Amino acid sequence: MIVLAHLSDTHFDGGQRSAARAGQVMDYLHALPGHLDAIIVTGDITDHGLPEEHEQAEKVLRSSLPVHTCPGNHDGYTPYAGPLNSEHDLGEATLILCDSVIMGRDDGEFSDETLDWLAATLAAAAEEKPVLIGFHHPPVDVHHGLLDTINLGRRSQERLAALMAEHPKVVALLCGHVHSAAAATFAGRPVLMAPGVTSTLNLPWEVSGELTWKNTVDYGPPPALAFHVIADNGRVTTHFRWLPA
Ligand SMILES: [Fe+2]
Ligand SMILES: [Fe+2]
Repeated sequence: MIVLAHLSDTHFDGGQRSAARAGQVMDYLHALPGHLDAIIVTGDITDHGLPEEHEQAEKVLRSSLPVHTCPGNHDGYTPYAGPLNSEHDLGEATLILCDSVIMGRDDGEFSDETLDWLAATLAAAAEEKPVLIGFHHPPVDVHHGLLDTINLGRRSQERLAALMAEHPKVVALLCGHVHSAAAATFAGRPVLMAPGVTSTLNLPWEVSGELTWKNTVDYGPPPALAFHVIADNGRVTTHFRWLPA
């Protein structure tokens, strides 16, 4: 059995609030008496991709546990040295993290380089181990008029679905970006979306009047995270945790 702590959207901006909220989550994880296998952070680690924000993130997200990350649309990395894709052996499972960022844009897409890499990595991954694929932009609608214009593009969705059809060992997709503890299905597998550490998404039926980015982003709710449990039979169970405000 593997237990993963899944954080997303810490949006470190150099200020105290973002650092305090992410710090609270890390303190909570480090104080747990039981075993965690790894921490993953699915993008929007920083707010503007500035060097001082990355520095702050590195400091606050430091852990004796392995911390695996992928970039989000807010993480702007220069100079661009190719997509930030990575594969991690978690022992009883394989974690694949993909870069879904299109530089300068808020919506997501897998580049051809990333799709080729993903195809080769999936083909080479151990058949007997469950595979989790993490990336920032969910490949599904979350039924929020603004957010659904900046999720993972249709072309990437199709290519990803085709790869997943080829590889039943992919047991779940782990995403961020939506700042909402949410679950959906894609290509017959769960899409598990971590809540935002920095803020929470207001849903259309939670606000009055027209949706705007201003009434979409709610800084009120406390920081939260997801725990994913991957059982020996490859089945995935997710628990969501909100920390005291
Ligand atoms: Fe975000
Ligand atoms: Fe995002």
